[in-house]
Amino acid sequence: MSYTLTDEQLMIQAMVREFSRKVVAPEASERDQNKTFPADILKKMGELGFMGMMIPPEYNGEGADTISYALALSEIAYSCASTAVVMSVHNSIVCESLYHFGSEDLKQRCLKPLAAGKFIGAFALTEPHAGSDPVAQTTTAVKDGNSYIINGAKRFISTGKNSGLVLVTAKTNEALRHKGISVFVVPRKTPGMVIGRLEDKMGLRASDTTDLLFEDCRIPAENLVGQEGDGFKIVMKGLDSGRIGIAAQSIGVAQAALDAAVKYAKERDQFGQKISKFQGLRWIIADMATEIEAARQLMLSAAAMKDRGERYTAQASMAKLFASEMVNRITGKALQIHGGYGFTKDYPVERYYRDARVFTIYEGTSEIQRIVISDHVLKDKRSS
Ligand code: CAA
Repeated sequence: MSYTLTDEQLMIQAMVREFSRKVVAPEASERDQNKTFPADILKKMGELGFMGMMIPPEYNGEGADTISYALALSEIAYSCASTAVVMSVHNSIVCESLYHFGSEDLKQRCLKPLAAGKFIGAFALTEPHAGSDPVAQTTTAVKDGNSYIINGAKRFISTGKNSGLVLVTAKTNEALRHKGISVFVVPRKTPGMVIGRLEDKMGLRASDTTDLLFEDCRIPAENLVGQEGDGFKIVMKGLDSGRIGIAAQSIGVAQAALDAAVKYAKERDQFGQKISKFQGLRWIIADMATEIEAARQLMLSAAAMKDRGERYTAQASMAKLFASEMVNRITGKALQIHGGYGFTKDYPVERYYRDARVFTIYEGTSEIQRIVISDHVLKDKRSS
């Protein structure tokens, strides 16, 4: 790897790699087939500090930088993308948003147990009719004395069922559009928050994705994150960080697919020799390795900008766009190299192929990333 990593970053990467290969990988395929949530593994990850990686120790985190976090997330994704998405949403969008915008009370009550991995955090922005365009959401939060009452429906919520706390966006002032959206902490089992339909997905089958319904869900006013109207910016900043995480997940799955393809190509004989000896296949492997490395450099560069305190919105979108499209190409090629066996559940490559498909969709589709990047490059905000 050409990017200069510090001894500490390399040590974290090596530690997570060992854990991932020993603990996360062995039953990843069974969990995928049976849709088993990796609860025990996530508990261990919490104990090892993987669930509050970028949060300072005073709030039970590890105080690691974004580069270390991205490397760690890639290692988990290498073995199990379902486990990685839970780690990703929890660390970046939930913990970081609470750390940067939450009151001291919310940090003590909510961030500390989250960062210690006592329970998992989820993030509820998307609605049945508001995906790419969060301003179109219709969930409302109305102030009532020292409470807010939330009503509405959220869709495609990662870890909706298995989380202990959800960061929920809702409109506190319809007329103000972007500036009328707020973010609230809703602990699990709050009366009025109901777990709805569980999606039956093509990939990431060991992670749950659910509807969340809010029916006169009353929460204390202190559960507002930041100020009323801060919600859109809190979410966008959380997604900036989250998008580095999706790049990391993409790179982990792509590396696993390449490694599986190389292993298979060195074992498989056709026409009297290992298929790895055919130049046509060697060139495909060369292209796969090059694309993964390019994505890795983009991810590390965006993470380094974040760690230096620079604005990194466009670079996070570039890393997410390139890495998520790259992994779809890589897993397709890895499956092709496996021939008919790649189409069966005897080899992990079909799981990689299915898991990768959502990476160009969640935390902003490729089309949304292109909007963010082109706005940055052209510096002339669309006029609509
Ligand atoms: N950081 C800080 N502020 C930002 C920002 C950012 N990254 N992006 C926008 N803003 C600010 C703007 O500066 C602007 O501020 P002012 O009003 O003060 O000028 C305000 O927010 C509005 O910005 P835009 O006009 O650019 O907003 P828009 O409505 O045109 O939308 C968008 C921009 C980039 C398309 C945005 O809507 C977007 O990212 N959409 C995709 C949503 C998304 O990613 N959803 C994924 C769901 S979550 C998920 O998938 C999690 C999971 O389960 C895995």
